[in-house]
Amino acid sequence: MRHLLTLADLTAAEIERILAIADGLKQRYEQGLREPLLAGRVMALLFEKPSLRTRVSFEAGMVHLGGSSIFLGADTGLGSRETIPDFARTLDKFADIIVIRANRHQSAVELAAHSACPVINGLTDFGHPCQALADFFTVRERLGKLSGQTIAWVGDANNVARSLAVGCGKLGVRMVMATPEAYQFDEPSLAWIRQHSPNVDLSVTTDPVEAVRHATVIYTDVWASMGQESEQATRCRDFAAYQVNSALMRHASRDAVFMHCLPAHRGEEVTDEVIEGPQSIVFQQAANRMHAQKGIVAWLLGVKA
Ligand code: CP
Ligand code: NVA
Repeated sequence: MRHLLTLADLTAAEIERILAIADGLKQRYEQGLREPLLAGRVMALLFEKPSLRTRVSFEAGMVHLGGSSIFLGADTGLGSRETIPDFARTLDKFADIIVIRANRHQSAVELAAHSACPVINGLTDFGHPCQALADFFTVRERLGKLSGQTIAWVGDANNVARSLAVGCGKLGVRMVMATPEAYQFDEPSLAWIRQHSPNVDLSVTTDPVEAVRHATVIYTDVWASMGQESEQATRCRDFAAYQVNSALMRHASRDAVFMHCLPAHRGEEVTDEVIEGPQSIVFQQAANRMHAQKGIVAWLLGVKA
């Protein structure tokens, strides 16, 4: 039995397998097929933070595949009403698979350690592996292949960036990060990425222009992630020079695509002009969350897809 807590949990071949399952399921879904591969299976979604894409894409995906889902919000009291080990050893009796969106990554790790069914990280402060897998799926769909691409990450070295970085190393994608010095990955994060992705080609600069110049993908995310709301004003000031706007996009190739995991804070990390512009693929990217996650669930549950 396997969990998906970070992309470090997967080999390159396993990522390829998940993306291949996702691709097949997406094609057949678009032909109108609803394959009951997960008939009678139950997914529990345990969310301590808000969500649109992750929650709805998992729930819709379960319906398409003949299964069902149960949403458990913060009121469920993970770790406060009862301990996480007790929670895990109860929930795993009712659910076949659990998705957790946790304030602290350690909660997801602890839940998985005590769960008899697979646990998927649906975002923690440390990582967002489902997002990164959907992003790689989207880049391949859009640009034809993954190896040889360069992702320019413009913004905070956050959960999404960390997941992309470890995945990039496994898949032969370069990553260049333009991040203010105080917000770059710390040493433990860099060591973790290098440990799990020894081939990673990750460079860091403070200059967004330098980052986007040779990139095939320009990617940004909010400057203050969920849980960092009190730092919003400071971060808006510190990241002001890191906005992805038309002036910055002029330094990138005209063939480069613009990506954002969403939700976006328009007028902060990205302008309307860019997110609505011809290079933006953000809604194709959002749509692929569901297809990639169907691949993850089918793979973790070992169903033939
Ligand atoms: N990108 C993403 O995870 O979106 P939600 O927070 O809406 O789930
Ligand atoms: N970095 C963002 C991603 C949201 C999908 C956050 O954690 O809030």
